[in-house]
Amino acid sequence: MSMNEQSGDTAKGSNEKTCFIKTYGCQMNVYDSQRMEEALAAAGYRPVASAENADMVILNTCHIREKAAEKVYSELGRLKPLKQQNKDMVIGVAGCVAQAEGAEIIARAPVVDMVFGPQTFQQLPAMLDEIDDGRARGDKPKLVRTEFPAAEKFDALQAIARKPVTRSPSAFVTVQEGCDKFCTFCVVPYTRGEEVSRARADIIAEARALVAEGVSEITLLGQNVNAWEHDGTRLDGLLAQLGEIEGLERLRFTTSHPRDMDAALIAAHGDNKKLMPYLHLPVQSGSDTVLKAMNRKHSARDYIELVKKFRAARPDLALSSDFIVGFPGETEEDFAATMALVEEVNYAQAFSFKYSPRPGTPAADAATQIDEAVKAARLARLQELLNAQQIAFNQAQKGRVLPVLFDKPSKSGDQMSGRSPYLQPVHVPFDSLGNHDAAALRGRILPVEITGAHANSLSGILAL
Ligand code: 5AD
Ligand code: SF4
Repeated sequence: MSMNEQSGDTAKGSNEKTCFIKTYGCQMNVYDSQRMEEALAAAGYRPVASAENADMVILNTCHIREKAAEKVYSELGRLKPLKQQNKDMVIGVAGCVAQAEGAEIIARAPVVDMVFGPQTFQQLPAMLDEIDDGRARGDKPKLVRTEFPAAEKFDALQAIARKPVTRSPSAFVTVQEGCDKFCTFCVVPYTRGEEVSRARADIIAEARALVAEGVSEITLLGQNVNAWEHDGTRLDGLLAQLGEIEGLERLRFTTSHPRDMDAALIAAHGDNKKLMPYLHLPVQSGSDTVLKAMNRKHSARDYIELVKKFRAARPDLALSSDFIVGFPGETEEDFAATMALVEEVNYAQAFSFKYSPRPGTPAADAATQIDEAVKAARLARLQELLNAQQIAFNQAQKGRVLPVLFDKPSKSGDQMSGRSPYLQPVHVPFDSLGNHDAAALRGRILPVEITGAHANSLSGILAL
C-alpha cells in the first residue's frame, strides 16, 4: 500500500493517483512524455492538467540551449511550496538535463526525488514502487537512473501498450535516437548518445496500433531520422511500408541532416502519396566558413542543390529549417551569407536561435565568442526576413482549397481546428459547418477553402 492510500485522499478516490508531465524542447520529448503517460496509466496514474494536487510531477527537460536548461531550475523552485503542502508528491526530472547533470540536480534542488535520462523512462513504475517502499520505511529515497542504451529502450517501448491517453488524430513515433554527427555547437551526441535505429517490425506494429486507436497522421521522429536504417531498408522503404497501412493517411518525418539525404528518399517525395509536401531540413548557416567550423560537412551550395532536387521531385514542397546566429567567429559577411541563403531558398517556416555555448562541446571553448548584443541584432534581422517569408507563404494559400486533418475545437471554442499539409493550423468557424457536426470532423481530412491568412495560422470554410 502506498503512503497516499494510507492518508486516504478522498478527492481522488482511494486507489487513483494522478500525474502531471511538463515537456520542454523537441518533439522527441513530446513523444517520450506521451509514452511516460501511457506507462503511468498502466500503473494507475491519471494525467491531470497542473502540478497542484498531482501525486507525481515529471519535468521532461531539454539541454539544447542554456535557457532551456535553466527553465528546469525555476520550475523546480515553483514546485517546492507545492511539495511542502503535499509531502507524498514525487518529483522526477527526466530528459536531457537529467542525462547531462544526473545527481547534480538533486544536489542543487533537493525537492527532486528521481532523475532519469531519456533512455530510462520505461522503468518509471518500478522506480515509483521503490520510492513508495522507501517512504513506507520512513526514508527519503533519491533515485538517479541515467545509464541505459537506446537499443534497450526501443525493446522496452514495445512492452508499453500504445493506447494514447490524450487522443489526437496525429501521433509521433520515435524510430531513431542519438547522433554521431558531432556538430561543434550541439550537446545531443553527448546526451542522447550514438545513432540507433529501431527495428522496422516494431515501428510498423506501433503505427498499426495507433491507427487502430484512430490516428491518421504519423510523424516519424529521430535526431537524424533520415539516417534510419534497419536490415538494409532505409527511410524511403519504411515510409513506403507505412503508406500501405489502411487508415493511415499522412506521413511526416523530422528532423533530418542534409548529409543523410539519399536519392531514394528524395524520389519518395514524388512517389509516396501519403508523404506530406513539407520538409524540415536544418541548415544552421549560409556561410561555408561557419558551416565548416560547425562540422556540418556540407557547403551552402550543397544544401541549395539538395533543395532543388526535392523541389524537382515534389514541386509543391514547402521547407522549414533551423538557424544559429552568432556562432563563434561569425562575421558580418558570414551572416550576410545566411540572409542570402534564406532569400534563395524561401522558407515556409523556420526556427532561429542565438548561439548558446554548451558545456563540453568544442565551440563553447572557442576564443572568438560573439557579443550578445551582436547576436541579438542578427537574430532580429534574420527573424524579420523569416517571418516575412512565413507570412507570404500563408498569404499564398488564400483562395486555395487545402485538405485539412481536423483535430479539435480551437481555444476560443467557436471553431474547429486542424492542420494543412504544411502543418499550418487551420480554423473553420462552427457557424460555417452547415450540417456537419463539429465533433464528427475529428480525425477526418476534408477540403477547406482558405479565406484568411495570419502570421501563424489560416482560416477557411469547408469546401464540400
Ligand atoms: N545554440 C543555439 N542553438 C542550438 N541548436 C543546437 N545547439 C544549439 C546551441 N548550442 C539548435 C540547432 C538545432 C536545433 C534543434 O537547435 O539549430 O538544429
Ligand atoms: Fe546536434 Fe548536429 Fe546531431 Fe543535429 S546533427 S543532433 S545539430 S550534432
